[in-house]
Amino acid sequence: MKQKVLVTGGTGYIGSHTIIDLIENGYDVVCVDNGINSDKSVLNAVKEITGVTVPYYHIDLCDLSLTETIFKDHLDIQGVIHFAALKSVGESVEKPVLYFRNNIESLLNILDLSLQYEVKAFIFSSSCTVYGDVQRSPVDENTPLQEAASPYGRTKQIGEQVILDTLKNNKMKSILLRYFNPAGAHPSAKLGEAPNNPALNLVPVITETAIGKRAGMTVFGTDYPTRDGSCIRDYIHVVDLSHAHTLALKYIFDGKQKVSTDVFNVGIGSGLSVLEIIEAFEKVTGLRLNYEVGPRRPGDVMAIFSDYSKAKKELGWQPNYDVNDIMKTAWAWELVRSGKIN
Ligand SMILES: NC(=O)c1ccc[n+]([C@@H]2O[C@H](COP(=O)([O-])OP(=O)(O)OC[C@H]3O[C@@H](n4cnc5c(N)ncnc54)[C@H](O)[C@@H]3O)[C@@H](O)[C@H]2O)c1
Repeated sequence: MKQKVLVTGGTGYIGSHTIIDLIENGYDVVCVDNGINSDKSVLNAVKEITGVTVPYYHIDLCDLSLTETIFKDHLDIQGVIHFAALKSVGESVEKPVLYFRNNIESLLNILDLSLQYEVKAFIFSSSCTVYGDVQRSPVDENTPLQEAASPYGRTKQIGEQVILDTLKNNKMKSILLRYFNPAGAHPSAKLGEAPNNPALNLVPVITETAIGKRAGMTVFGTDYPTRDGSCIRDYIHVVDLSHAHTLALKYIFDGKQKVSTDVFNVGIGSGLSVLEIIEAFEKVTGLRLNYEVGPRRPGDVMAIFSDYSKAKKELGWQPNYDVNDIMKTAWAWELVRSGKIN
């Protein structure tokens, strides 16, 4: 019997890639999303790649009774991967209540139902933003968390705390995955980052600029005390990141997790600067990118990258893709998404 996993935010960027990884690793998947930042047509691509039609619920997780219908329909759900959240740092500064309501209420509802319906494993999408403005990298899971730089970051800190406190005296086990900077697309070029709202992450901003959807782009700050003056981040391919979720579930299902809630960094363990990322894009595609240099952006951390040795040791996870793969797959996806190639 296949184990069944509910993926929330499953038509989103990381959720959709994770659904593929779960199916390829023998799990049955159910997907829920309210479509606020994605489109359910993504599941057509999932079907093309895997041959599987994933059951889909168009539901806002802030609605407890509607969300419960999923658990009533699928009494055999054994794992939940909770991706659903709003994720724009800037928007969260403008609309903090929206972010707290959406990200916390949806978490409380899905957590409550997961406990009620005796789910065994709960995986939560956290973020390296919980570390705040770190002074030194790499950061490991014991690095003390600092003041969150935005309400979005705070929702992740609160989310982690809610899960830690809630699961202390329960049978369900949880893993908090702290993602660094997810980027790239599925190697089939049938799936990638396709937000309903304007892209904010560096890699889609680069590909959208190169294809002409944007007139140009700005590198925010080249006067940081880094090797070339621009900010440094840890870019992890979305396919590698997705697989970490499958391994995390398996870790709990196989009874390997001793604590109620554990936490793992998921990054590639080294940093690249914004200018190095642009250079990688230009090298891989042979294109010149139209960008300008602007002032620093408030809230940007100078440099952060991961120590992922805990995920390697405990989950058996390690990245297989590098920055060139990120650029190749992101560009192939942009060409398809923009109708330049089929
Ligand atoms: N992409 C990143 O850079 C990054 C980095 C660190 C952490 N994360 C976290 O990973 C998770 C997935 O991110 P993503 O990049 O795939 O984002 P995404 O926006 O592509 O996916 C999130 C999905 O959740 C859905 N959603 C939001 N609120 C919902 C609600 N109340 N009910 C039902 N569905 C809802 C959206 O429609 C969207 O499809 C998020 O929790 C995000 O905060 C993302």
